[in-house]
Amino acid sequence: MKTVTCTAPVNIAVIKYWGKRDEKLILPLNDSISFTLSQDEMCAKTTVSISPKFSEDQFWLNDKKESLENPRIQNCLKEIRRRASKRKFDGKDENVWSWHVHICSKNNFPTAAGLASSAAGYACLVYALGQVYGVEGDLSPVARQGSGSACRSVHGGLVRWHKGEDDDGADSVARPIAPPGHFPDLQVIICVVSAGQKKTGSTEGMRQTVASSSLMQHRIKVSLPSRIESMMKAIEEKDWPTFCDLTIADSNEMHAVCLDTSPPCVYMTDTSHAVASLIHKYNDLKTDQGDINHKVCYTFDAGPNACIFTPGAVAKEVLPLLLQAFPPPPAQTPKEYVKGIASQPAP
Ligand code: PMV
Repeated sequence: MKTVTCTAPVNIAVIKYWGKRDEKLILPLNDSISFTLSQDEMCAKTTVSISPKFSEDQFWLNDKKESLENPRIQNCLKEIRRRASKRKFDGKDENVWSWHVHICSKNNFPTAAGLASSAAGYACLVYALGQVYGVEGDLSPVARQGSGSACRSVHGGLVRWHKGEDDDGADSVARPIAPPGHFPDLQVIICVVSAGQKKTGSTEGMRQTVASSSLMQHRIKVSLPSRIESMMKAIEEKDWPTFCDLTIADSNEMHAVCLDTSPPCVYMTDTSHAVASLIHKYNDLKTDQGDINHKVCYTFDAGPNACIFTPGAVAKEVLPLLLQAFPPPPAQTPKEYVKGIASQPAP
């Protein structure tokens, strides 16, 4: 028997992926850019074991036995086994690709609540499978077939997922663009507005947006090409205020195309908007004081929870403001107090 355990952190997109050109291969309509959080933050942890004695594949998610019929897990598994079957062996275990696998995966944060759980989960699964079956090379296109955004969690730091041009998805891959400490002392505050599961999953939401939103055409053809180039330049030049402006603009545009969808995909709540408004007020104050390097930015995935990027020194100022505006419910522990904010709208 061979066993491997891996962890993979979530990534938070600052230029969002929203919309596919191929649903089966999970090929996106646009490039996206994200930050992979550090290993000690929100993580998926996966243990995989393979053995010639196992009679079937099995899967547990967050301690619950789950069906392995999910086509996305099957696609990842098939691709890893295909690659393993082509590997050169030194005479030992050459049939390893045909051994059944037992998979046990856990998230240390709410699953399917718009907190990029599938990104961490599939990146972790694919990496662990690659290790246990002895597969080398770029695993980002395999992780992409589990959940698009998962391909970005295969790398640390700032990562760009190139949409690619090929029909088979061979060039739809994630590449690191800057190491984790690129913006020194960067902190991330995750405001858990609601840990419940989202109403419209990202697959369905994207499908509806692509089918019905005319604003989406503008996003893909006009806004994104120049915003992506500006974001790459801002990252290269470590231009933090521009990075913040672009991150906020892209989050708001993604949620605008979601609202322009029929029926509308409403992910942000009144509390989410109140958090965004607080951040704008803070940034306006910093701009008035001529202190633009102390700006902060927010971004929202397909859910109500805010992800706030802030320079470390500024976090000390912003966190008390958030906690004052959104006091935690009495039952929350100090750790949750720091990680999350309560669900009341700002006064
Ligand atoms: O990879 P998915 O299918 O969970 O889609 C993720 C979509 C967003 O999180 C909203 C944006 C992104 O780029 O991560």
